[in-house]
Amino acid sequence: MPRVTVRDVAEMKANGRKIPMITAYDYTTALMADAADVPILLVGDSLGMVVLGYESTIQVTMEDIVHHCKAVVRGAKKAMVVADLPFMTYQVDPAQAMTNAARLIQDGGAQAVKLEGGEWMADTVARIAQCGIPVMGHIGLTPQSINSFGGYRVQGRDRRAGAQLLRDAKALEEAGAFAVVLELVPTQLAGLISRRLTVPTIGIGAGPECDGQVQVLHDMLGLFTDFVPRHARQFAKLAESMREAFATYVEQVEDGSFPTSRQSFNMDESVLEELAVIP
Ligand code: KIV
Repeated sequence: MPRVTVRDVAEMKANGRKIPMITAYDYTTALMADAADVPILLVGDSLGMVVLGYESTIQVTMEDIVHHCKAVVRGAKKAMVVADLPFMTYQVDPAQAMTNAARLIQDGGAQAVKLEGGEWMADTVARIAQCGIPVMGHIGLTPQSINSFGGYRVQGRDRRAGAQLLRDAKALEEAGAFAVVLELVPTQLAGLISRRLTVPTIGIGAGPECDGQVQVLHDMLGLFTDFVPRHARQFAKLAESMREAFATYVEQVEDGSFPTSRQSFNMDESVLEELAVIP
C-alpha cells in the first residue's frame, strides 16, 4: 500500500471517513501503528513530556524531533508522518520557519509539519505551504503557550474566544494548511469549525464532531497511571503489564529460574576441556 498523502486525507473528509492519528516517537511503535493502518503518525513535541521527562513541551529542540522522526519514518512505510516544529523554531519569522520545516522534511524524513497558532501564524503557514511542505495547524489549547494560558484549560467557551477560534481555523485553511488540530475545544464549537472548513479538523479533547482524532501514545496505551487526561481513553493498560513483567524478571533473575538452557548457548565439550587447562 502506498504512503498516505494529503490528497488521501482530504478525500477521507470528503467521503465522511474519520481520520485516526496517534503520536509516535520510535521505530517499533511506528511498525506496529503501520500494521494497524493508522493513517497519520505525529512526531509530536509531547515527546518532551512522555519520553524525555521534561515538564512541558517548551524544552524540546529541533534535534530531538529530527532524531525521533527519523526512527518513526524507518518504521512507517504507509502512514503519513507529521513532525512538530518545536517552540521558537518558527515563531521568529517565516524564514526561520521555512528553514526548520525543510529540515524536518529533508533530515527527519517527515511528509508534513505541524505548528501552533492561528490567524497570526497564517503568513508563516502560507510561506511553508508555498514551498511544497504540507502544514498541519494547531489551535485551541496550544501547549507551547502553556505559560500564557496558565494551565491546560478548555479554550473558546465564550463568544469572543469562540469567534477568535473560528477566525483562526479559517485563516489557517486559507493559508493552505491541509488539516487543523483542535485541542481542548468545546464539542459544539469544534463541530461548527469542522463544518465550516473544507480541510479536516483533528480533535484532541474536542469531541466526536471533528473529522479525525489524535491521541498521545502514552495516554492511549495506559503507559501513564499517575494522571489520565479527561480527553484520553486507555485502549490498553501497558503500564500494568510492564510493571508485572519487570517484577517477574527481577524475581526470576534473583531466584535463578532465568535464564534456562532455552535462553543459553552451548560449546563443544572438548574445547572447554582445552580451555580449562589454560592457566
Ligand atoms: O505534541 C503532541 O502530541 C500534539 C498533540 C497533542 C496534537 O501536538
